[in-house]
Amino acid sequence: MTKIKVALVGVGNCASALLQGLHYYSKFENEQECVGLPHLVLGGFHPRDIQIVAAFDVDNRKVGKDLSEAIFAPPNNAPKIVDVPKTGIIVHKGPLLDGVGEYTKKIVQISSQPEANILEVLKESKAEIMLNLLPSGAMKASAWYAEQALNASCAFINATPAFIASDAAWVERFEDAMLPLVGDDLIDQVGATALHKTLLKLLSLNGVYITETYQLDVGGGTESLDTLERTREIKRALKTQSVEAALPYKTEVVAGSMDYVDFLQNRRDSYFWIKGLYFCNTPMQIDLKLSTVDAPNAGSVLFDVIRAVKIALEKKLKGAVLPICAYAFKHPPQIVPLETAEKMFEDYVKGKP
Ligand SMILES: NC(=O)c1ccc[n+]([C@@H]2O[C@H](COP(=O)([O-])OP(=O)(O)OC[C@H]3O[C@@H](n4cnc5c(N)ncnc54)[C@H](O)[C@@H]3O)[C@@H](O)[C@H]2O)c1
Repeated sequence: MTKIKVALVGVGNCASALLQGLHYYSKFENEQECVGLPHLVLGGFHPRDIQIVAAFDVDNRKVGKDLSEAIFAPPNNAPKIVDVPKTGIIVHKGPLLDGVGEYTKKIVQISSQPEANILEVLKESKAEIMLNLLPSGAMKASAWYAEQALNASCAFINATPAFIASDAAWVERFEDAMLPLVGDDLIDQVGATALHKTLLKLLSLNGVYITETYQLDVGGGTESLDTLERTREIKRALKTQSVEAALPYKTEVVAGSMDYVDFLQNRRDSYFWIKGLYFCNTPMQIDLKLSTVDAPNAGSVLFDVIRAVKIALEKKLKGAVLPICAYAFKHPPQIVPLETAEKMFEDYVKGKP
């Protein structure tokens, strides 16, 4: 059976949930018995067809370790769901660049081991897809790894908010190299932005006039700390823009602001406030809290994206693959409504033009 060979860049919380999920779901055969995935089999691929063949990080407690150990090393705090047997994949040290910010340098310990020859590792491992799970503020490092993907002829998945799949120059380079590219900024399975937009849309369709709304997050993962320092403003602008687009008129919207509370561990609390007017100007309010664990929230979307990119490789697609970008990312090259994105993705997987 064809395996999908993936190189992981960044062995943080998301990587931990991904690897644990691969083991958790490997035994399931029946879609009805399998809780937590929209597709057990996608395009003929089961999650057990996904094989991690290389991994890169910079933290002393991860570099040089088997991947099965590295995913549970601090500062990772995603919960342990399953025991992961030894993988035989040793985490290699990559270049640091801007991987660690002022805030996260307090909790990430930089390894003093020499840097591996990343290109050589990629080629030896026969990786066909590179999955970028670097911190969101690591813009230069993300670009550096995209460059390595081009050099090693790997498709590139950008789960981070660095602009790569949504940047015309990068898209052209992947087109020239005849390689698929998808991104940017992975959508969550239980996503606060999607929930916020759906609530607003429902209310507005029923004639409610929204006067003000906000959605604010508090999290305890390393990523929340990095966001606080380096990407808070950009994330706030992107999410606010996306939420505003759900309403047919302009109103007071703030979305996506973030703070860090270490004792939450990998938990994320998302607060929603919606105020509006309905029949005869009668006021209504919604005050809601969504609690999730951050890393597993990326797992099922990553399963779908990896398998969909494998389909793109088989079809010899090149450049940004819009049905994947629009379905699974917050900042695709082109934003389309949620329902359209889902339809585009299902058609793409079924092979419909
Ligand atoms: N639900 C989710 O978790 C979710 C959803 C959407 C997007 N994302 C994105 O996925 C990315 C990863 O999230 P996470 O929670 O796993 O972050 P994390 O901080 O837990 O992991 C990042 C890892 O990258 C490593 N790293 C830092 N600099 C490096 C470098 N130069 N080379 C190699 N490794 C380096 C760190 O040591 C750490 O292990 C983030 O950009 C985040 O925005 C996550």
